[in-house]
Amino acid sequence: MKRLRCDQTPAWAALQGHFDARGRAFDLRQAFARDAGRFDDFSQDAPHIFADLSKNLIDTDTQTLLLALAQQCGLAQHRDAMFAGAPINRTEQRAVMHFLLRKPLVAQEEQAQPAIEKVADLTPELARVHATLEAMLAYAELVRSDAAITDIVNIGIGGSDLGPQMAVLALAEFATAGKRLHFVSNIDGDELAGVLGPLQPGKTLFLIASKTFTTLETMTNAHSAKRWFEARGGVDIARHFAALTTNVAAANSFGITTTFGFWDWVGGRYSLWSAIGLPLAIAIGADGFRAFLAGAHAMDAHFRTAELARNLPVRLGLLDVWYRNFHGLASRSVAPYSSALRRWPAYLQQLEMESNGKRVDEDGRPLPFETSPVVWGEPGTNGQHAYFQMLHQGTSVVPVEFVAVRQAARSPNDLPGHHAKLLANVLAQAQALMRGKEDAGGHQAFPGNRPSTFLLLDKLTPASLGALIALQEHRVFVSGAIWGVNSFDQWGVELGKVLARDIEPRLHSGDVAGLDGSTAGLLQRLRG
Ligand code: F6P
Repeated sequence: MKRLRCDQTPAWAALQGHFDARGRAFDLRQAFARDAGRFDDFSQDAPHIFADLSKNLIDTDTQTLLLALAQQCGLAQHRDAMFAGAPINRTEQRAVMHFLLRKPLVAQEEQAQPAIEKVADLTPELARVHATLEAMLAYAELVRSDAAITDIVNIGIGGSDLGPQMAVLALAEFATAGKRLHFVSNIDGDELAGVLGPLQPGKTLFLIASKTFTTLETMTNAHSAKRWFEARGGVDIARHFAALTTNVAAANSFGITTTFGFWDWVGGRYSLWSAIGLPLAIAIGADGFRAFLAGAHAMDAHFRTAELARNLPVRLGLLDVWYRNFHGLASRSVAPYSSALRRWPAYLQQLEMESNGKRVDEDGRPLPFETSPVVWGEPGTNGQHAYFQMLHQGTSVVPVEFVAVRQAARSPNDLPGHHAKLLANVLAQAQALMRGKEDAGGHQAFPGNRPSTFLLLDKLTPASLGALIALQEHRVFVSGAIWGVNSFDQWGVELGKVLARDIEPRLHSGDVAGLDGSTAGLLQRLRG
């Protein structure tokens, strides 16, 4: 089915009218004063997550119009096409099936629900997914029980680094003792050298994580790691190196025979559920990893089946469109009030900006409206003592997405008094953004009416983290579908890679022929 792009729908024009009439002047404080049921109307449960959307600049009319927009853009059909295995990544002619990586072999809920119209029979693919998953989890258990291996070094970048690193940190409470996990991504040799410094080859396992097995940073680091290993007497590559890749042939020619594969229908930034999740599986074990997949699968089922009005990824994605295209807000700040989630903002940056940072639609036509916001942030409470000044009193309005966790990490990390202070602060920040303070004048005044969303987990567990990540994947799908962009390619990263290949030999030779004045001048300076 041909979908309508958002700006060509009647709902788009209606939303503009609604914004001009009431949206621009919407006041949260008045909305709460008018409507005692606002919290209930604009909050909801989703698998493992409670979401309060009531402190956003929306009323029921806004929500109705946004849902009409979703309908007119064919959101549900596009979602169903993804779940049916259609090649919705049109610029690369690929299906988009990261959801399959977390789907049980027999999904209970599907027996009771009407099947999505089949584009492809995914059963053989699902069998391959599970065969690889079982092999990878068996390997993870082997590594966990191998006392001789103390350090695991994941070498990868982008989706082959951010997801596993974020998740390993987030679930540290569930990690096995006796294994240190390290993540090396930067081509700056300082990073790899710093990690390798104290390690011993005989006690180290390298995981070379790269979907393509061609990425410059990862290949350079992998070669250096192998040289380090061999120079220090390491011999058993099969035992000390494993590759996580769709390009098993390239891993084999590199000399790695222990490989775990995945498929081209998994985008790099959506690959944490595949073999790329091996560091997490080693940390939390096979059962923990299965729980992580199950949490994500529960969110998939919610996204697939909940009515749009009570569908959390849909509501969040539509809110993103409302802020970006009608309020004209250029960024969203993410504030996980959890030290364990400290890499959450970095992870979301790739997920959202690499997916939806596009200026043409799926057919290559330039877009006459804005797409991906800038996503940025730090864990709370740290951000409060850095940039929250700007969030409260700056000239730009920045919606904030808080993540809070009701229960603290288990003892001994649950230090007396800390968690209540953390929770008091997250509540207070959301309250302060909304309420403001106008009784004082000048420098002391806070305008208030600044929106925020509050995502609440009962506890940070493999299952709830899985659900939280899948929620974000699907909300990015929703805004991308409304904008009519292909959320699953990333051509924008290619040009710089090509130019770096041209520049590197010039750094050695000093040849600046054909370069612009600035690049030539800088190159000469860099040569010293
Ligand atoms: O350059 C961007 C990118 O292609 C990301 O999309 C990807 O996650 C990252 O590089 C790493 O790619 P690979 O896993 O193939 O090494």
